[in-house]
Formats: sequence, structure tokens, C-alpha cells
Amino acid sequence: MKILLAYSSKTKNTKKVAEAIYEQIKDQAEVDLLDIKKQRKKLEKEYDFYILGAWTDKTNANKNMQRFIDQQQIHNKDVALFLTCGVPREHYHADDSINNYIAFMEERNNRIHETFVCQGKVDPKVIIVFKILTWRDPNFIHKMTPDLADMVKESRSHPDIKDLTDAQDCFDNLLNYKITHATV
Ligand SMILES: Cc1cc2nc3c(=O)[nH]c(=O)nc-3n(C[C@H](O)[C@H](O)[C@H](O)COP(=O)(O)O)c2cc1C
Repeated sequence: MKILLAYSSKTKNTKKVAEAIYEQIKDQAEVDLLDIKKQRKKLEKEYDFYILGAWTDKTNANKNMQRFIDQQQIHNKDVALFLTCGVPREHYHADDSINNYIAFMEERNNRIHETFVCQGKVDPKVIIVFKILTWRDPNFIHKMTPDLADMVKESRSHPDIKDLTDAQDCFDNLLNYKITHATV
């Protein structure tokens, strides 16, 4: 089985998760690990399965990943998705984000076989910008409430070892299941 494991990462959180998944599954299938920034042209290779990881922006996979999916015509495919986001994975915002990513993929007739979400540290520079923008516009989409400020503090240690091993277990199970049951 040929798998594309592609990710979009600005500050390396999603990259770390992608690399951990790659290390776990690379011996179970023919896996290509790809940083989407480095892929301008249409991929020449066809894949049986796509694992697509992105950082969260505006409660969804960021725009670069959305653009990549359309440019590469990842439509009507078998896929698994993962996100890193600023909030803990149990937070409703993490659910909303992955659900919006799922909806985006389903609108393109993709079949979603697995999803995974974990927290990733939010770049301190971005927090300063969010604070200024909140001060200017109280309805700013990333409004810095005290709750959000606490979550951002908590995000500093993520992705941690548990996030990475959870991601590995999740995709290891997926591959074992898919390979043994050959449903893809
Ligand atoms: C401009 C910007 C917008 C963001 N928007 C969200 C968001 O809507 N929801 C969220 O949970 N995290 C948000 N984050 C946090 C990132 O998704 C999170 O820190 C992620 O782990 C970054 O991944 P990376 O290191 O791979 O770039 C935002 C970060 C930035 C820089």
C-alpha cells in the first residue's frame, strides 16, 4: 500500500507529530513523508491512502493545507486526518476544528478512516498580535479571554511524549486494521 503522509507546519508542532507517525508506520507500508511547503507541482505518484496533518487556524485545517488538497485533487480518496491546535484536545474547540476539517474533506467525497487531534504550543509572537487585535476589536476571532490565556500557557509543553505516542498508537492501529482487513 502506498501512503502519502503530508503535513503543514509553521512552528514545527505538526511536523513533530507527522515525523512520529512516520517512524511508527514506515515499515508497515510504502510511506512518503511530505512537507507541503516543498511541493509546488502536482504529485506524479498515485497513492492508495492519504494521511493529512495540519495546524489549526480559524477552527479548521489552515488554508495552505486546504489549498494543497484541492491542488493535488485529493478528492474521492481514502484518508486519515490529524490536527494540532492551541487548545487541549478535550476542549470543544478541538472537536469543532476536526469536524470542520472532516466536513471539508467529505465535501470532496473523501472517505475518512481515522482522525487525531493534539495540542501544540502557540507561538508567543502570535499571542502578542492576538492581544493587540483583541484590544482593537473585542469581536476579533481569536479574542484573548482569560480562559484562552490559560490554555495558551498550558500549550507550552505540547506536543509532549504522550501526544506523540498517542498519535503513533492511533495510526499504528489504523494501519494494522487496514492491512489485515484490506478494506482500502
Ligand atoms: C495565526 C494563527 C491562528 C491560529 N488559530 C487557531 C485556532 O483557530 N484554533 C486553535 O486551536 N489554534 C489556533 N492556532 C494555534 C496553532 O494551530 C497551534 O499552535 C499549532 O500547534 C501550530 O502548529 P505548527 O507548529 O505545526 O505550525 C493558531 C495559530 C496561529 C499562528
